[in-house]
Amino acid sequence: MKSRLLLPLLFLGLSRVVADPLTYDTNPLGEVDRPLILRTYVPDPGLDPAVFAHHGKASKSPKYSPKTGRDTKGEYGMMRVIPAAIAVNHGPALSYVWDTTECRLLYAWQGGFLDLYPYWGIEGSGGRRSFDYGARLVGNLFYLAKPMKTETPKFLGYDLSEMGVPTFRYRLGDQEYAETILPVDGLYSFQRTVNGKATTLKGELLSEHQGFERNLKIKSATAEAGEQVFGAYGCVACHSIDGSQGHGPSLQGLAGSTRPVEGGDPVKADAAYLRESILSPNAKTAKGFPPGYMPPYQLSAQEVDSLVLYIQSLSK
Ligand code: HEC
Repeated sequence: MKSRLLLPLLFLGLSRVVADPLTYDTNPLGEVDRPLILRTYVPDPGLDPAVFAHHGKASKSPKYSPKTGRDTKGEYGMMRVIPAAIAVNHGPALSYVWDTTECRLLYAWQGGFLDLYPYWGIEGSGGRRSFDYGARLVGNLFYLAKPMKTETPKFLGYDLSEMGVPTFRYRLGDQEYAETILPVDGLYSFQRTVNGKATTLKGELLSEHQGFERNLKIKSATAEAGEQVFGAYGCVACHSIDGSQGHGPSLQGLAGSTRPVEGGDPVKADAAYLRESILSPNAKTAKGFPPGYMPPYQLSAQEVDSLVLYIQSLSK
C-alpha cells in the first residue's frame, strides 16, 4: 500500500521539476501583466523593527544529528529572513514583498527580483549555504514600510485575477480590506488599491542590490568567461542574444553599432559604452526602454572585461 502510493507521488514530483523551466532558474522574472508569485524566505533590507509588531519572537533550536535524529550539543544560529511574506514580481517594472503577519506591504523595488542561487543548491555540489540561503534582492529598492499602529491583523488569503494578479484580503478589527498592488509607468512608482480606492505612490532610490556573488574565479578575461558571467548573474533573463525582444534589448549586433538613446544623440556602442551600460545602467537609457529596469552590478574587473568581450563576440 505504502509503495503504491509513494510511486505516483514521486513521479508527480519529478515530472513537475522536468516540465517547469523556472525550477532551475536562480533569477526568475514574471511579466508586467502576468506576475510571478513566490513564497520564500525574503531578506529584511533595513526595515524598522517596529514594523514587525505582530511577529512572534523566534528562538534558537538545538543542533541535531541527521544520522541519529537526536539533539546534539549546541544551537543553530538564526537566519535573518522574513518567514511568512509573499514576494511578487511584474518583470523589471515592479517587485514587492507583502507580509501575511502584519498584513501590509513591506517594501518594493524595481529592475529585478530575487536571486535564489544558494537556495537551489550551489552548482556542482548542490549544497546549500549554511544559514544564508534566504533569497537576496536584485535591483533598486525604493520603498520601505514605516511603523504604524494597527489593530491585530488577520490574514484571510489572496485571490488571483485571470492574469494571476493577487489581491490580498485581511481584517483589522471589524473591518475587512482587499489590497492590490500594480506597476505603473515611471521610475520608482506603483499603484496601491485598497477597497477600490487607488493611490499612486512614488518612492526614491534607497539602496542597490545585485544578489549573491558568484565567485566564478575567472583568471583572464575571455568571451567564454563572459558567457559564463552572463548566465550566472541572470543577464539572460532580460537580454536575448538572438535578436528577439525581451525585458531589455537583445545584445545581438549591439557592439559596434550606433545606438539611439533616450534624450540625447545616438552613441557608438564601443567597449566604453558596454562597460558603462553594465556598471551604471541609468547613465544612458537605450531608446524604447524605461530607465531603472536594469539592476546595478558591481562586478570584478575580469568579469566586466569578459562580458564586454562576450557581447562583442555577438556582433561577429
Ligand atoms: C531585469 C532585467 C535586466 C537584467 C537582469 C540585465 N539587464 Fe541589461 N538592460 C536592461 C534594460 C531594460 C536595458 C535598457 C535600458 C537601459 O539602457 O538601461 C538594459 C541595457 C543593457 C545594455 C545596453 C544595451 C543597448 O542596447 O544599448 C547592456 C550592454 C546590458 N544591459 C548588459 C547587461 C548585462 C551584461 C547584464 C548581466 C550582468 C544585464 N544587462 C542584466 C535590463 C536588464
